[in-house]
Amino acid sequence: MPFQPASRFPPRPKIKLKQSSPTRVGRSLIGRLRVRLSSTAFAAALTVLGAGCRRTFEPLTPIQRGEVLYRSNCASCHGSDPRRPGVSGPAIAGSTPALLEARVLHRSYPSGYQPKRDTHLMQSMPWMAGKIGDLAAFLDSTSTGPRSVKAISDRLDSRE
Ligand code: HEC
Repeated sequence: MPFQPASRFPPRPKIKLKQSSPTRVGRSLIGRLRVRLSSTAFAAALTVLGAGCRRTFEPLTPIQRGEVLYRSNCASCHGSDPRRPGVSGPAIAGSTPALLEARVLHRSYPSGYQPKRDTHLMQSMPWMAGKIGDLAAFLDSTSTGPRSVKAISDRLDSRE
C-alpha cells in the first residue's frame, strides 16, 4: 500500500457517550465486587496450597536422618541391616554415641572397649562430626539388645 499523508485518512467517527444510568452503575459495582471476590478466592487457594506444601516438607526425625546417613555412608560395608554383619564390617546396631564418635571420627575405640574385630580397615569420616547423635538414634532403633527391648516396652507402656 503506497504511503498516504495523514490528511487523506477518513475522519474518525464521533462516538456518542451515553449518560450512565443507575443500572449501569449497579452492574459495574457487581463487576468490581466479583473481581474482589475472585482475588480473595485466589488468595485463599494460595494459602491452602502453601499449607499443603509445608506439610510435605516436615523435618525428619533424628532416627530418619540417621537412617539416611547410615544408608549413604555405612551400609556399603556394614550391610542394609545393621543387626547383621555386612560384606566387610561387623554388626553395629545399638552402638553407643561414645563408640560411634571414637570409631567414626577418630578411628579409635573408647578406653576399655573390646573391638569386635582387630583389623583397621575402616577410615575415619570427620564430616560425620555433628551427626553422631542421629546415627546413634537410628542404630539404637534397629538394635535387638536390651536398650531396644526397653524402648519397645516403654512404647507399649505409653499406649495403655
Ligand atoms: C569401607 C567399609 C566401611 C565403611 C564405609 C564403614 N565401616 Fe564401620 N567398620 C568397617 C570395618 C571393616 C570394621 C571393623 C574394624 C576395622 O577393620 O576397621 C568397622 C567397624 C565399625 C565399628 C566398630 C564396631 C565394634 O563394635 O567393634 C563401628 C561402630 C562402625 N564401624 C561404624 C560405622 C559407621 C557408623 C559407618 C558410617 C558412618 C561406618 N562404620 C562405615 C568397615 C566400614
